[in-house]
Amino acid sequence: MVKRAFKWLSGTGPRSLVLGIGIVAGIIGWGGFNTFMEYTNSYEFCTSCHEMSVVKGEYQESAHAHNPSGVPAICSDCHVPKPWGAKLVRKIMATKELYHWALGTIDTPEKFEQHRMQLANKVWDTMEKSDSRECRNCHTNETMLTDKQTSLAQKMHKKLMSGEQTCINCHKGIAHKLPVESLYAKMEAEYQTETNNSQLADKAVVILPEAEMTATPDGEDPLATLYGGTPLMVVKQEGDWVQVTSEGWDREEGSQIFIDFNRAVALAKMNFDGMDRVEKIESRLEPEYELTWNRIKLTGWVPRAAVGPSEERFWEYVTDLHEVDCNLCHKTYPRDKWIMFDWRNNLKEMRRYTKLSQEQLQLVSNWVLRGARNDAEAD
Ligand code: HEC
Ligand code: HEC
Ligand code: HEC
Ligand code: HEC
Ligand code: HEC
Repeated sequence: MVKRAFKWLSGTGPRSLVLGIGIVAGIIGWGGFNTFMEYTNSYEFCTSCHEMSVVKGEYQESAHAHNPSGVPAICSDCHVPKPWGAKLVRKIMATKELYHWALGTIDTPEKFEQHRMQLANKVWDTMEKSDSRECRNCHTNETMLTDKQTSLAQKMHKKLMSGEQTCINCHKGIAHKLPVESLYAKMEAEYQTETNNSQLADKAVVILPEAEMTATPDGEDPLATLYGGTPLMVVKQEGDWVQVTSEGWDREEGSQIFIDFNRAVALAKMNFDGMDRVEKIESRLEPEYELTWNRIKLTGWVPRAAVGPSEERFWEYVTDLHEVDCNLCHKTYPRDKWIMFDWRNNLKEMRRYTKLSQEQLQLVSNWVLRGARNDAEAD
Protein backbone atom coordinates (compact mmCIF):
# COMPACT_ATOMS: atom_id res chain seq x y z
CA MET A 1 0.00 0.00 0.00
CA VAL A 2 2.70 2.48 1.08
CA LYS A 3 4.90 1.24 -1.74
CA ARG A 4 2.15 1.83 -4.31
CA ALA A 5 1.53 5.35 -3.09
CA PHE A 6 5.24 6.10 -3.26
CA LYS A 7 5.39 4.80 -6.81
CA TRP A 8 2.43 6.95 -7.74
CA LEU A 9 4.03 10.06 -6.28
CA SER A 10 7.47 9.46 -7.74
CA GLY A 11 6.06 9.13 -11.28
CA THR A 12 6.36 11.85 -13.89
CA GLY A 13 3.74 14.04 -15.54
CA PRO A 14 0.58 15.43 -13.92
CA ARG A 15 1.11 13.49 -10.71
CA SER A 16 4.34 15.29 -9.77
CA LEU A 17 2.76 18.58 -10.82
CA VAL A 18 -0.03 17.96 -8.30
CA LEU A 19 2.58 17.17 -5.68
CA GLY A 20 4.58 20.33 -6.45
CA ILE A 21 1.54 22.58 -6.24
CA GLY A 22 0.55 20.88 -3.04
CA ILE A 23 3.90 21.55 -1.39
CA VAL A 24 4.00 25.21 -2.46
CA ALA A 25 0.41 25.81 -1.35
CA GLY A 26 1.25 24.11 1.91
CA ILE A 27 4.21 26.40 2.57
CA ILE A 28 2.22 29.54 1.72
CA GLY A 29 -0.70 28.26 3.73
CA TRP A 30 1.57 27.46 6.68
CA GLY A 31 3.01 30.98 6.66
CA GLY A 32 -0.41 32.55 6.26
CA PHE A 33 -1.75 30.37 9.02
CA ASN A 34 1.03 31.45 11.34
CA THR A 35 0.48 35.11 10.52
CA PHE A 36 -3.19 34.59 11.19
CA MET A 37 -2.45 32.86 14.49
CA GLU A 38 -0.17 35.73 15.47
CA TYR A 39 -2.75 38.34 14.58
CA THR A 40 -5.35 36.53 16.64
CA ASN A 41 -3.03 36.83 19.65
CA SER A 42 -2.76 40.61 19.48
CA TYR A 43 -4.23 42.99 22.02
CA GLU A 44 -6.08 44.76 19.18
CA PHE A 45 -7.72 41.56 18.03
CA CYS A 46 -8.92 40.47 21.47
CA THR A 47 -10.21 43.89 22.42
CA SER A 48 -11.93 44.38 19.07
CA CYS A 49 -14.74 42.29 20.55
CA HIS A 50 -14.24 42.78 24.24
CA GLU A 51 -14.11 46.55 23.90
CA MET A 52 -17.74 46.86 24.78
CA SER A 53 -17.23 44.80 27.86
CA VAL A 54 -15.76 45.76 31.14
CA VAL A 55 -12.66 43.56 31.06
CA LYS A 56 -10.53 45.87 28.95
CA GLY A 57 -10.99 48.87 31.27
CA GLU A 58 -10.27 46.79 34.33
CA TYR A 59 -7.21 45.26 32.73
CA GLN A 60 -5.88 48.76 31.95
CA GLU A 61 -5.99 49.54 35.70
CA SER A 62 -4.07 46.41 36.63
CA ALA A 63 -0.38 45.87 37.34
CA HIS A 64 -0.19 43.68 34.25
CA ALA A 65 -1.00 46.61 31.92
CA HIS A 66 1.20 49.24 33.61
CA ASN A 67 3.91 48.62 36.17
CA PRO A 68 7.16 50.12 37.38
CA SER A 69 9.17 47.77 35.18
CA GLY A 70 7.21 48.67 32.06
CA VAL A 71 6.75 45.03 31.09
CA PRO A 72 3.12 44.36 30.25
CA ALA A 73 1.25 41.09 29.91
CA ILE A 74 -1.45 41.26 27.25
CA CYS A 75 -4.67 39.27 26.99
CA SER A 76 -3.18 36.37 25.06
CA ASP A 77 -0.17 36.09 27.43
CA CYS A 78 -2.54 34.86 30.12
CA HIS A 79 -5.29 33.31 28.01
CA VAL A 80 -3.61 31.62 25.05
CA PRO A 81 -1.21 28.72 25.63
CA LYS A 82 2.26 28.82 24.05
CA PRO A 83 2.65 25.07 23.36
CA TRP A 84 1.27 24.26 19.92
CA GLY A 85 -1.20 21.54 20.81
CA ALA A 86 -2.81 23.46 23.65
CA LYS A 87 -2.81 26.65 21.55
CA LEU A 88 -4.63 24.94 18.71
CA VAL A 89 -7.22 23.57 21.12
CA ARG A 90 -7.74 27.08 22.55
CA LYS A 91 -8.19 28.51 19.04
CA ILE A 92 -10.69 25.84 18.11
CA MET A 93 -12.58 26.48 21.36
CA ALA A 94 -12.49 30.17 20.43
CA THR A 95 -14.77 29.51 17.48
CA LYS A 96 -17.43 29.18 20.19
CA GLU A 97 -16.62 32.78 21.17
CA LEU A 98 -17.33 33.78 17.56
CA TYR A 99 -20.64 31.99 17.75
CA HIS A 100 -21.63 33.70 21.02
CA TRP A 101 -20.39 37.01 19.63
CA ALA A 102 -22.72 36.55 16.64
CA LEU A 103 -25.53 35.70 19.04
CA GLY A 104 -24.71 38.77 21.14
CA THR A 105 -24.50 36.65 24.30
CA ILE A 106 -22.48 39.23 26.26
CA ASP A 107 -22.77 42.35 24.13
CA THR A 108 -24.09 44.67 26.86
CA PRO A 109 -22.55 45.27 30.30
CA GLU A 110 -25.69 43.77 31.91
CA LYS A 111 -25.54 40.59 29.87
CA PHE A 112 -21.82 40.39 30.51
CA GLU A 113 -22.30 40.66 34.28
CA GLN A 114 -24.87 37.88 34.13
CA HIS A 115 -22.44 35.50 32.42
CA ARG A 116 -19.33 36.68 34.15
CA MET A 117 -19.08 34.21 37.00
CA GLN A 118 -19.56 31.34 34.59
CA LEU A 119 -16.82 32.63 32.28
CA ALA A 120 -14.47 33.30 35.18
CA ASN A 121 -15.07 29.77 36.44
CA LYS A 122 -14.07 28.37 33.08
CA VAL A 123 -10.83 30.35 33.14
CA TRP A 124 -10.05 29.27 36.73
CA ASP A 125 -10.66 25.62 35.84
CA THR A 126 -8.41 25.80 32.80
CA MET A 127 -5.61 27.47 34.75
CA GLU A 128 -5.85 25.08 37.67
CA LYS A 129 -5.67 22.10 35.31
CA SER A 130 -2.61 23.51 33.54
CA ASP A 131 -0.88 24.32 36.88
CA SER A 132 -1.05 28.02 35.87
CA ARG A 133 1.10 27.34 32.80
CA GLU A 134 0.63 30.79 31.26
CA CYS A 135 1.63 32.60 34.46
CA ARG A 136 4.80 30.52 34.58
CA ASN A 137 5.86 31.75 31.15
CA CYS A 138 6.88 34.92 32.98
CA HIS A 139 6.97 34.08 36.69
CA THR A 140 8.94 30.99 37.66
CA ASN A 141 9.60 29.42 41.02
CA GLU A 142 13.33 29.52 40.25
CA THR A 143 13.48 33.25 39.47
CA MET A 144 11.24 34.32 42.33
CA LEU A 145 13.26 35.87 45.14
CA THR A 146 10.88 34.96 47.91
CA ASP A 147 13.15 36.42 50.58
CA LYS A 148 12.59 39.85 49.03
CA GLN A 149 8.83 39.42 49.32
CA THR A 150 6.51 40.43 52.15
CA SER A 151 6.29 37.93 55.00
CA LEU A 152 2.74 37.07 53.98
CA ALA A 153 3.82 36.35 50.39
CA GLN A 154 6.70 34.22 51.72
CA LYS A 155 4.39 32.21 53.93
CA MET A 156 1.93 31.60 51.11
CA HIS A 157 4.58 30.87 48.50
CA LYS A 158 5.77 27.93 50.61
CA LYS A 159 2.54 26.29 49.47
CA LEU A 160 3.53 27.12 45.90
CA MET A 161 7.02 25.69 46.20
CA SER A 162 5.69 22.51 47.80
CA GLY A 163 3.23 22.09 44.91
CA GLU A 164 0.29 22.13 47.31
CA GLN A 165 -1.32 25.08 45.50
CA THR A 166 -0.86 26.82 42.18
CA CYS A 167 -0.84 30.55 41.27
CA ILE A 168 -4.50 30.73 40.30
CA ASN A 169 -5.63 29.19 43.60
CA CYS A 170 -4.44 32.40 45.25
CA HIS A 171 -4.23 35.10 42.58
CA LYS A 172 -7.70 35.46 41.18
CA GLY A 173 -8.86 38.91 40.07
CA ILE A 174 -5.36 40.12 39.19
CA ALA A 175 -6.33 41.59 35.80
CA HIS A 176 -10.10 41.97 36.17
CA LYS A 177 -12.49 42.72 38.97
CA LEU A 178 -13.74 39.63 40.77
CA PRO A 179 -17.35 39.04 39.77
CA VAL A 180 -18.34 37.82 43.20
CA GLU A 181 -20.11 40.62 45.10
CA SER A 182 -22.99 40.84 42.65
CA LEU A 183 -23.11 37.05 42.59
CA TYR A 184 -23.40 36.80 46.39
CA ALA A 185 -26.17 39.41 46.44
CA LYS A 186 -28.01 37.52 43.72
CA MET A 187 -27.64 34.17 45.51
CA GLU A 188 -28.97 35.70 48.71
CA ALA A 189 -31.93 37.38 46.99
CA GLU A 190 -32.84 34.17 45.16
CA TYR A 191 -32.64 32.07 48.30
CA GLN A 192 -34.69 34.55 50.33
CA THR A 193 -37.43 34.85 47.70
CA GLU A 194 -37.67 31.09 47.43
CA THR A 195 -37.89 30.76 51.22
CA ASN A 196 -40.54 33.44 51.67
CA ASN A 197 -42.70 31.88 48.99
CA SER A 198 -42.63 28.32 50.27
CA GLN A 199 -44.83 26.79 52.96
CA LEU A 200 -43.43 25.53 56.23
CA ALA A 201 -44.13 21.85 56.84
CA ASP A 202 -43.26 19.99 60.04
CA LYS A 203 -39.57 20.81 59.85
CA ALA A 204 -37.69 24.11 59.49
CA VAL A 205 -34.23 25.59 59.86
CA VAL A 206 -32.91 28.91 61.19
CA ILE A 207 -31.70 30.86 58.14
CA LEU A 208 -30.45 34.08 59.77
CA PRO A 209 -27.09 34.18 61.56
CA GLU A 210 -29.07 34.44 64.82
CA ALA A 211 -32.77 34.35 65.71
CA GLU A 212 -34.38 35.24 69.05
CA MET A 213 -36.75 32.62 70.46
CA THR A 214 -39.44 34.09 72.71
CA ALA A 215 -42.08 32.65 75.04
CA THR A 216 -44.91 34.44 73.23
CA PRO A 217 -45.57 35.32 69.55
CA ASP A 218 -44.69 39.01 69.93
CA GLY A 219 -40.95 39.20 70.46
CA GLU A 220 -41.33 39.66 74.25
CA ASP A 221 -39.98 37.30 76.93
CA PRO A 222 -36.83 35.98 75.26
CA LEU A 223 -35.77 32.39 75.96
CA ALA A 224 -32.80 31.71 73.71
CA THR A 225 -30.72 32.83 70.75
CA LEU A 226 -30.85 30.22 67.99
CA TYR A 227 -27.93 30.09 65.57
CA GLY A 228 -28.11 29.82 61.78
CA GLY A 229 -28.61 26.23 60.62
CA THR A 230 -30.31 25.02 63.80
CA PRO A 231 -32.99 22.47 62.84
CA LEU A 232 -36.47 22.99 64.29
CA MET A 233 -39.77 21.12 64.54
CA VAL A 234 -42.69 23.35 63.56
CA VAL A 235 -45.63 23.28 66.00
CA LYS A 236 -47.83 25.93 64.36
CA GLN A 237 -47.78 29.24 62.52
CA GLU A 238 -49.71 32.37 63.55
CA GLY A 239 -49.36 35.31 61.20
CA ASP A 240 -45.70 36.35 61.11
CA TRP A 241 -44.73 34.02 63.96
CA VAL A 242 -43.96 30.33 64.11
CA GLN A 243 -44.01 28.15 67.20
CA VAL A 244 -41.08 25.76 67.09
CA THR A 245 -39.23 23.18 69.15
CA SER A 246 -35.47 22.94 69.24
CA GLU A 247 -33.98 19.64 70.34
CA GLY A 248 -30.39 18.95 71.33
CA TRP A 249 -28.08 18.23 74.27
CA ASP A 250 -27.02 20.40 77.19
CA ARG A 251 -24.31 19.91 79.76
CA GLU A 252 -25.49 19.96 83.37
CA GLU A 253 -25.96 23.55 84.55
CA GLY A 254 -25.05 24.80 81.07
CA SER A 255 -26.85 27.40 79.03
CA GLN A 256 -26.06 26.03 75.60
CA ILE A 257 -27.90 23.54 73.42
CA PHE A 258 -25.40 21.36 71.61
CA ILE A 259 -25.73 19.35 68.45
CA ASP A 260 -25.19 15.91 69.98
CA PHE A 261 -24.08 14.02 73.06
CA ASN A 262 -20.50 15.02 73.92
CA ARG A 263 -20.24 17.17 70.79
CA ALA A 264 -19.90 20.81 71.83
CA VAL A 265 -21.15 22.47 68.65
CA ALA A 266 -23.72 25.02 69.77
CA LEU A 267 -27.21 25.22 68.23
CA ALA A 268 -28.47 27.83 70.68
CA LYS A 269 -27.68 29.77 73.82
CA MET A 270 -30.41 30.00 76.47
CA ASN A 271 -31.05 32.63 79.13
CA PHE A 272 -32.31 31.70 82.63
CA ASP A 273 -35.95 31.66 81.51
CA GLY A 274 -35.03 29.33 78.67
CA MET A 275 -33.05 27.04 81.00
CA ASP A 276 -36.07 26.89 83.34
CA ARG A 277 -38.41 25.82 80.55
CA VAL A 278 -36.29 23.05 79.10
CA GLU A 279 -37.89 19.59 78.91
CA LYS A 280 -35.46 16.81 79.69
CA ILE A 281 -35.78 13.66 77.54
CA GLU A 282 -32.84 11.54 78.71
CA SER A 283 -29.49 11.82 80.54
CA ARG A 284 -26.13 10.25 79.88
CA LEU A 285 -22.84 10.37 81.73
CA GLU A 286 -19.72 11.32 79.83
CA PRO A 287 -17.13 9.25 81.72
CA GLU A 288 -13.89 11.11 81.00
CA TYR A 289 -14.89 14.43 82.61
CA GLU A 290 -17.76 12.88 84.57
CA LEU A 291 -20.24 15.33 83.13
CA THR A 292 -23.93 14.64 82.73
CA TRP A 293 -25.33 15.43 79.33
CA ASN A 294 -29.10 15.79 78.88
CA ARG A 295 -31.11 15.42 75.73
CA ILE A 296 -33.51 18.36 75.91
CA LYS A 297 -36.29 20.16 74.12
CA LEU A 298 -37.13 23.86 74.18
CA THR A 299 -40.32 25.29 72.69
CA GLY A 300 -40.96 28.94 71.79
CA TRP A 301 -41.74 31.41 69.01
CA VAL A 302 -39.54 32.79 66.22
CA PRO A 303 -40.32 35.26 63.41
CA ARG A 304 -41.36 33.55 60.16
CA ALA A 305 -38.65 35.54 58.33
CA ALA A 306 -35.97 33.85 60.47
CA VAL A 307 -36.78 30.32 59.32
CA GLY A 308 -36.77 28.42 56.04
CA PRO A 309 -38.55 25.23 55.09
CA SER A 310 -35.66 23.01 54.01
CA GLU A 311 -32.50 22.22 55.90
CA GLU A 312 -30.90 20.71 52.78
CA ARG A 313 -31.61 23.76 50.65
CA PHE A 314 -30.23 26.07 53.35
CA TRP A 315 -26.94 24.19 53.62
CA GLU A 316 -26.71 24.10 49.85
CA TYR A 317 -26.89 27.90 49.83
CA VAL A 318 -24.28 28.19 52.58
CA THR A 319 -21.85 25.65 51.10
CA ASP A 320 -22.14 27.37 47.71
CA LEU A 321 -21.04 30.62 49.37
CA HIS A 322 -18.16 28.76 51.03
CA GLU A 323 -17.16 27.08 47.80
CA VAL A 324 -16.91 30.36 45.89
CA ASP A 325 -15.51 32.73 48.48
CA CYS A 326 -13.16 30.51 50.44
CA ASN A 327 -11.59 29.37 47.17
CA LEU A 328 -10.72 32.88 45.99
CA CYS A 329 -7.32 33.27 47.61
CA HIS A 330 -6.37 29.70 48.52
CA LYS A 331 -7.96 26.28 48.23
CA THR A 332 -10.67 25.59 50.79
CA TYR A 333 -9.55 23.72 53.88
CA PRO A 334 -11.40 20.61 55.08
CA ARG A 335 -13.51 21.37 58.13
CA ASP A 336 -11.95 18.65 60.24
CA LYS A 337 -8.44 20.04 59.73
CA TRP A 338 -8.75 22.12 62.92
CA ILE A 339 -10.57 22.03 66.24
CA MET A 340 -13.18 24.70 66.88
CA PHE A 341 -10.87 26.97 68.82
CA ASP A 342 -8.36 27.20 65.96
CA TRP A 343 -11.12 27.56 63.36
CA ARG A 344 -12.56 30.49 65.30
CA ASN A 345 -9.21 32.28 65.15
CA ASN A 346 -8.79 31.54 61.46
CA LEU A 347 -12.31 32.72 60.69
CA LYS A 348 -11.76 35.92 62.64
CA GLU A 349 -8.67 36.57 60.49
CA MET A 350 -10.73 36.02 57.33
CA ARG A 351 -13.12 38.84 58.22
CA ARG A 352 -10.84 41.33 56.53
CA TYR A 353 -10.31 39.16 53.48
CA THR A 354 -13.71 37.72 52.67
CA LYS A 355 -15.95 39.28 50.03
CA LEU A 356 -19.01 37.84 51.77
CA SER A 357 -21.26 40.12 53.81
CA GLN A 358 -20.72 39.79 57.57
CA GLU A 359 -24.06 37.94 57.78
CA GLN A 360 -23.09 35.50 55.07
CA LEU A 361 -19.71 34.95 56.69
CA GLN A 362 -21.44 34.09 59.95
CA LEU A 363 -23.57 31.45 58.23
CA VAL A 364 -20.48 30.00 56.57
CA SER A 365 -18.70 30.09 59.94
CA ASN A 366 -21.55 28.18 61.58
CA TRP A 367 -21.23 25.53 58.89
CA VAL A 368 -17.47 25.32 59.25
CA LEU A 369 -17.62 25.05 63.05
CA ARG A 370 -20.20 22.27 62.83
CA GLY A 371 -17.69 20.16 60.94
CA ALA A 372 -14.66 21.07 63.07
CA ARG A 373 -12.67 18.30 64.69
CA ASN A 374 -14.00 17.52 68.14
CA ASP A 375 -12.14 19.36 70.90
CA ALA A 376 -12.27 16.18 72.94
CA GLU A 377 -10.57 14.17 70.20
CA ALA A 378 -7.73 16.68 70.02
CA ASP A 379 -6.91 16.39 73.72
C1 HEC B 1 -15.34 37.60 17.80
C2 HEC B 1 -15.33 38.33 19.05
C3 HEC B 1 -14.28 37.88 20.08
C4 HEC B 1 -12.90 37.92 19.91
C5 HEC B 1 -12.10 38.44 18.71
C6 HEC B 1 -12.35 37.40 21.15
N1 HEC B 1 -13.37 37.04 22.03
FE1 HEC B 1 -13.14 36.25 23.88
N2 HEC B 1 -15.14 35.97 24.04
C7 HEC B 1 -16.08 36.42 23.12
C8 HEC B 1 -17.41 36.00 23.55
C9 HEC B 1 -18.74 36.29 22.85
C10 HEC B 1 -17.21 35.25 24.77
C11 HEC B 1 -18.28 34.54 25.60
C12 HEC B 1 -18.36 33.08 25.17
C13 HEC B 1 -19.41 32.29 25.93
O1 HEC B 1 -20.45 32.85 26.27
O2 HEC B 1 -19.15 31.09 26.15
C14 HEC B 1 -15.78 35.28 25.04
C15 HEC B 1 -15.19 34.69 26.16
C16 HEC B 1 -13.85 34.84 26.51
C17 HEC B 1 -13.23 34.35 27.73
C18 HEC B 1 -13.90 33.65 28.90
C19 HEC B 1 -14.32 32.23 28.73
C20 HEC B 1 -13.45 31.22 28.05
O3 HEC B 1 -13.99 30.46 27.23
O4 HEC B 1 -12.22 31.17 28.30
C21 HEC B 1 -11.91 34.71 27.66
C22 HEC B 1 -10.85 34.41 28.72
C23 HEC B 1 -11.70 35.37 26.41
N3 HEC B 1 -12.89 35.45 25.74
C24 HEC B 1 -10.47 35.86 26.00
C25 HEC B 1 -10.20 36.30 24.72
C26 HEC B 1 -8.87 36.55 24.21
C27 HEC B 1 -7.58 36.42 25.02
C28 HEC B 1 -9.01 36.95 22.92
C29 HEC B 1 -7.86 37.24 21.92
C30 HEC B 1 -6.95 36.11 21.76
C31 HEC B 1 -10.42 36.93 22.60
N4 HEC B 1 -11.11 36.52 23.73
C32 HEC B 1 -10.99 37.30 21.39
C33 HEC B 1 -15.82 37.13 21.96
C34 HEC B 1 -14.56 37.34 21.40
C1 HEC C 1 3.84 38.31 30.00
C2 HEC C 1 4.39 38.06 31.31
C3 HEC C 1 3.43 37.82 32.48
C4 HEC C 1 2.42 36.87 32.56
C5 HEC C 1 1.98 35.88 31.49
C6 HEC C 1 1.88 36.99 33.89
N1 HEC C 1 2.53 37.97 34.59
FE1 HEC C 1 2.18 38.52 36.53
N2 HEC C 1 3.42 40.10 36.32
C7 HEC C 1 4.20 40.35 35.21
C8 HEC C 1 4.86 41.62 35.38
C9 HEC C 1 5.84 42.26 34.41
C10 HEC C 1 4.43 42.13 36.66
C11 HEC C 1 4.77 43.46 37.30
C12 HEC C 1 6.08 43.48 37.97
C13 HEC C 1 6.32 44.87 38.51
O1 HEC C 1 5.56 45.25 39.40
O2 HEC C 1 7.19 45.52 38.02
C14 HEC C 1 3.52 41.13 37.22
C15 HEC C 1 2.93 41.24 38.47
C16 HEC C 1 2.23 40.22 39.09
C17 HEC C 1 1.74 40.24 40.45
C18 HEC C 1 1.92 41.36 41.47
C19 HEC C 1 1.03 42.53 41.17
C20 HEC C 1 -0.41 42.23 41.38
O3 HEC C 1 -1.22 42.43 40.44
O4 HEC C 1 -0.80 41.79 42.48
C21 HEC C 1 1.09 39.05 40.65
C22 HEC C 1 0.41 38.59 41.91
C23 HEC C 1 1.14 38.30 39.39
N3 HEC C 1 1.85 39.04 38.48
C24 HEC C 1 0.58 37.06 39.18
C25 HEC C 1 0.39 36.50 37.91
C26 HEC C 1 -0.47 35.38 37.64
C27 HEC C 1 -1.27 34.63 38.68
C28 HEC C 1 -0.41 35.14 36.28
C29 HEC C 1 -1.18 34.09 35.48
C30 HEC C 1 -2.64 34.19 35.53
C31 HEC C 1 0.51 36.12 35.72
N4 HEC C 1 0.95 36.92 36.73
C32 HEC C 1 0.87 36.18 34.38
C33 HEC C 1 4.34 39.54 34.10
C34 HEC C 1 3.48 38.50 33.76
C1 HEC D 1 -1.01 29.75 48.54
C2 HEC D 1 -1.29 31.00 47.90
C3 HEC D 1 -0.35 31.53 46.84
C4 HEC D 1 0.18 30.86 45.74
C5 HEC D 1 0.00 29.39 45.38
C6 HEC D 1 0.88 31.83 44.97
N1 HEC D 1 0.83 33.04 45.59
FE1 HEC D 1 1.74 34.75 44.97
N2 HEC D 1 1.17 35.71 46.68
C7 HEC D 1 0.30 35.20 47.61
C8 HEC D 1 0.05 36.20 48.64
C9 HEC D 1 -0.88 36.05 49.84
C10 HEC D 1 0.83 37.32 48.29
C11 HEC D 1 0.93 38.65 49.04
C12 HEC D 1 -0.16 39.57 48.59
C13 HEC D 1 -0.13 40.86 49.35
O1 HEC D 1 0.87 41.17 49.98
O2 HEC D 1 -1.15 41.56 49.27
C14 HEC D 1 1.52 36.99 47.04
C15 HEC D 1 2.36 37.83 46.35
C16 HEC D 1 2.80 37.61 45.04
C17 HEC D 1 3.52 38.56 44.22
C18 HEC D 1 3.98 39.92 44.67
C19 HEC D 1 5.30 39.74 45.36
C20 HEC D 1 5.87 41.02 45.94
O3 HEC D 1 6.32 40.97 47.10
O4 HEC D 1 5.86 42.03 45.24
C21 HEC D 1 3.73 37.97 42.99
C22 HEC D 1 4.45 38.57 41.79
C23 HEC D 1 3.14 36.65 43.05
N3 HEC D 1 2.60 36.47 44.33
C24 HEC D 1 3.12 35.77 42.01
C25 HEC D 1 2.74 34.44 42.12
C26 HEC D 1 2.87 33.48 41.04
C27 HEC D 1 3.33 33.81 39.65
C28 HEC D 1 2.48 32.28 41.54
C29 HEC D 1 2.54 30.94 40.82
C30 HEC D 1 3.84 30.60 40.19
C31 HEC D 1 2.05 32.51 42.92
N4 HEC D 1 2.24 33.82 43.23
C32 HEC D 1 1.52 31.54 43.76
C33 HEC D 1 -0.26 33.94 47.61
C34 HEC D 1 0.07 32.92 46.72
C1 HEC E 1 -2.33 38.63 34.09
C2 HEC E 1 -3.17 37.68 33.40
C3 HEC E 1 -4.38 38.20 32.60
C4 HEC E 1 -4.40 39.15 31.63
C5 HEC E 1 -3.25 40.01 31.12
C6 HEC E 1 -5.75 39.19 31.11
N1 HEC E 1 -6.53 38.29 31.79
FE1 HEC E 1 -8.49 37.87 31.40
N2 HEC E 1 -8.55 36.65 33.05
C7 HEC E 1 -7.47 36.33 33.83
C8 HEC E 1 -7.93 35.52 34.95
C9 HEC E 1 -7.08 34.96 36.05
C10 HEC E 1 -9.34 35.38 34.78
C11 HEC E 1 -10.32 34.62 35.70
C12 HEC E 1 -11.17 35.63 36.48
C13 HEC E 1 -10.35 36.42 37.45
O1 HEC E 1 -9.65 35.83 38.29
O2 HEC E 1 -10.41 37.67 37.38
C14 HEC E 1 -9.68 36.11 33.57
C15 HEC E 1 -10.98 36.21 33.07
C16 HEC E 1 -11.31 36.77 31.84
C17 HEC E 1 -12.63 36.75 31.23
C18 HEC E 1 -13.89 36.10 31.82
C19 HEC E 1 -14.76 37.13 32.51
C20 HEC E 1 -14.22 37.63 33.82
O3 HEC E 1 -14.19 38.85 34.00
O4 HEC E 1 -13.81 36.85 34.67
C21 HEC E 1 -12.54 37.41 30.04
C22 HEC E 1 -13.65 37.68 29.04
C23 HEC E 1 -11.15 37.85 29.90
N3 HEC E 1 -10.44 37.43 31.02
C24 HEC E 1 -10.65 38.55 28.82
C25 HEC E 1 -9.43 39.20 28.84
C26 HEC E 1 -9.05 40.22 27.87
C27 HEC E 1 -9.87 40.65 26.68
C28 HEC E 1 -7.80 40.67 28.23
C29 HEC E 1 -6.98 41.78 27.60
C30 HEC E 1 -7.63 43.09 27.57
C31 HEC E 1 -7.41 39.91 29.42
N4 HEC E 1 -8.43 39.05 29.76
C32 HEC E 1 -6.17 40.04 30.08
C33 HEC E 1 -6.15 36.69 33.61
C34 HEC E 1 -5.73 37.67 32.71
C1 HEC F 1 -9.21 37.81 49.70
C2 HEC F 1 -8.47 36.60 49.99
C3 HEC F 1 -9.02 35.55 50.94
C4 HEC F 1 -10.31 35.08 51.02
C5 HEC F 1 -11.53 35.50 50.22
C6 HEC F 1 -10.29 34.06 52.06
N1 HEC F 1 -9.04 33.91 52.56
FE1 HEC F 1 -8.45 32.59 54.00
N2 HEC F 1 -6.54 33.30 53.90
C7 HEC F 1 -6.12 34.35 53.09
C8 HEC F 1 -4.75 34.69 53.42
C9 HEC F 1 -3.93 35.79 52.75
C10 HEC F 1 -4.35 33.81 54.46
C11 HEC F 1 -3.01 33.79 55.21
C12 HEC F 1 -3.22 34.76 56.35
C13 HEC F 1 -2.05 34.94 57.26
O1 HEC F 1 -1.30 34.00 57.47
O2 HEC F 1 -1.93 36.07 57.80
C14 HEC F 1 -5.50 32.94 54.72
C15 HEC F 1 -5.52 31.93 55.67
C16 HEC F 1 -6.61 31.12 55.95
C17 HEC F 1 -6.60 30.02 56.89
C18 HEC F 1 -5.39 29.56 57.72
C19 HEC F 1 -4.55 28.61 56.90
C20 HEC F 1 -3.34 28.07 57.64
O3 HEC F 1 -2.67 27.19 57.06
O4 HEC F 1 -3.06 28.50 58.77
C21 HEC F 1 -7.85 29.48 56.89
C22 HEC F 1 -8.33 28.29 57.69
C23 HEC F 1 -8.64 30.25 55.96
N3 HEC F 1 -7.85 31.23 55.40
C24 HEC F 1 -9.99 30.03 55.71
C25 HEC F 1 -10.77 30.82 54.88
C26 HEC F 1 -12.21 30.69 54.77
C27 HEC F 1 -13.07 29.70 55.52
C28 HEC F 1 -12.61 31.63 53.86
C29 HEC F 1 -14.03 31.91 53.39
C30 HEC F 1 -14.91 32.46 54.40
C31 HEC F 1 -11.42 32.35 53.41
N4 HEC F 1 -10.33 31.83 54.07
C32 HEC F 1 -11.42 33.35 52.46
C33 HEC F 1 -6.86 34.98 52.13
C34 HEC F 1 -8.22 34.80 51.91
